[in-house]
Amino acid sequence: MTIYSKITGTGSYLPPRRVSNEELVAQLAAKGVETSDEWIVTRSGIASRHYADDGVLASDLGVEAAKRALEMAGVAANEVDLILLATTTPDHYGGFPSTACRVQAKLGITSHCAAVDVQAVCSGFVYAMSMADAFIRAGVHKNILVIGAEIYSRVVDFNDRTTCVLFGDGSGAVLVSASNEPGILATKMHADGHQNEILHMDARLSCGVMEGSGFMYMDGQAVFKQAVTVLDQVGHEVMEMAGVQPTDIDWLIPHQANVRIMQSAAKRLKIPAERVVITVDWTGNTSAATIPIALDTAMRDGRIKSGQNILMAAIGGGLTWGAVLARM
Ligand SMILES: CC(C)(COP(=O)(O)OP(=O)(O)OC[C@H]1O[C@@H](n2cnc3c(N)ncnc32)[C@H](O)[C@@H]1OP(=O)(O)O)[C@@H](O)C(=O)NCCC(=O)NCCS
Repeated sequence: MTIYSKITGTGSYLPPRRVSNEELVAQLAAKGVETSDEWIVTRSGIASRHYADDGVLASDLGVEAAKRALEMAGVAANEVDLILLATTTPDHYGGFPSTACRVQAKLGITSHCAAVDVQAVCSGFVYAMSMADAFIRAGVHKNILVIGAEIYSRVVDFNDRTTCVLFGDGSGAVLVSASNEPGILATKMHADGHQNEILHMDARLSCGVMEGSGFMYMDGQAVFKQAVTVLDQVGHEVMEMAGVQPTDIDWLIPHQANVRIMQSAAKRLKIPAERVVITVDWTGNTSAATIPIALDTAMRDGRIKSGQNILMAAIGGGLTWGAVLARM
């Protein structure tokens, strides 16, 4: 019998502290960094974001989203046999130990369950979903928690107005389970390491001392150009692999970085704007967490219904990009 992989539960969690554009603009002005609500909304579509309090770790956010996904699926934590956690802001430097292992411990899951971090920056969730799908269809695992959990407020430079207004903290999770009916229909991952300079972090450790900047760097315009091109290309790739047309897509869930990128990608993919799930306005860019947060939001508010086709596509540092086409 053919084994398929299916999304059986979703969850998300944002730390309670909401920071509006007005509040952020005032905080930045006090440091001599000039920006405005009007600029942020017009250029990115972001009106607010959430920041984690000091001492809160990516694993703490991931655990909350994971609990909600398990509850929706009606699956006990100990039935999970693999945790794939996508993050660029792990609990510990270099992911040592992995944030996935921290989540496993915090959920009280025993050692039958493997746990590993996936690093593909903002494409991390889509990469991890592709891996989860392959593991399940190969019969290696039955219940995989795929989590995106990020605390970007600790890696953006609040003196750099071109990036600090765009990012936020949060987590999203999905339970992917073995099923006898099709769920995930197609996945595709890409990378182009030649383009690392346009979106990266310089920091590296040397003999226990950090060298280079520990803040993220982004050439916004260069990333923007790449994003609209590759999201369109990879979206078409997975539709072709699954043998579906744009008219068969019920919801497009692009990586939530910028409303203008999402609108442009939807137009190129021939998916009407009203079928695009947008959460960036109140979350900001939460990197690997954006897609599962948006997916969970649209699941819980009733927009996404059983049997519908969802196209998820992301781009991130590396560069990396990819897409997942799933039937819910
Ligand atoms: C970052 C981004 C919002 C900038 O929007 P943009 O329309 O390209 O704006 P530009 O970079 O051309 O900057 C326009 C002007 O605004 C200024 N500006 C930049 N940030 C500003 C801010 N927060 N407030 C006010 N002005 C700002 C710039 O200095 C520039 O001024 P100049 O014309 O005098 O030089 C946009 O490029 C973007 O979203 N890029 C992709 C980001 C992305 O997808 N990242 C995720 C990948 S994971």
